[in-house]
Amino acid sequence: MTRCSLTLRNGSASNIEQMNGAPHGALPKKRNKTMKHEQPKLPYAYDALEPVIDAKTMEVHYAKHHATYVAKLNDALATSEMTAAKPLIELLANLDDVPANIRTAVKNHGGGTWNHSFFWAVMAPENAGGGGEAGGTIRKAIDARWGEYMKFVAEFTAVATTHFGSGWAWLVVTNDKEHGTTKRLEVLTTPNQDCPLSLGQTPLLTLDLWEHAYYLKYQNRRAEYIENWWRVVNWEQVEANFTM
Ligand SMILES: [Fe+2]
Repeated sequence: MTRCSLTLRNGSASNIEQMNGAPHGALPKKRNKTMKHEQPKLPYAYDALEPVIDAKTMEVHYAKHHATYVAKLNDALATSEMTAAKPLIELLANLDDVPANIRTAVKNHGGGTWNHSFFWAVMAPENAGGGGEAGGTIRKAIDARWGEYMKFVAEFTAVATTHFGSGWAWLVVTNDKEHGTTKRLEVLTTPNQDCPLSLGQTPLLTLDLWEHAYYLKYQNRRAEYIENWWRVVNWEQVEANFTM
């Protein structure tokens, strides 16, 4: 059996160490050459993002919710030799090529796997790189796109706050044929565990809008969670995602 690490687009998993071992159950005996996706190690302690994100939420979010997506992704892939050897980003970017019997599972659990791994990486403790304003080339791109930085922050916040139900808020690079450019920054949301990779977009930054991401601390105050979250955004990682 061949193992592989979950790999983020643009190599943006640079600050995520890969978890050793196979924590998610036995694989079917019928498989010979398979790729088991593994949950990357959380790049900080459960309490590292306090008080913005409390330790209990981080623990349940990572060790239960994220881990379950990884396990169910592997369960789905175990039924298909053809897709089992493909990197997750390739599966998500080409869902139509995934066998129909596991396509929804790959979309949901593969998305849940990749989105959360990406989410952990774009956050950092306030005393270790989290928060502040974007710098570098991503700052210049944001300023060029929105005119002024705070207009970007306001749009992302508004889009995230008004998203109905579970999902994710994203800053992405997208093709923009209407404006005659192939690289344009956009803010958007996706429902459920849908991933912008499946839309041909390159994620730069994301925020988990599922209730499991904030409910223990914030209950129904999602707007407060979103406002506080800016204090732990890892702009260095966002810059890396943009320049890779
Ligand atoms: Fe989540």
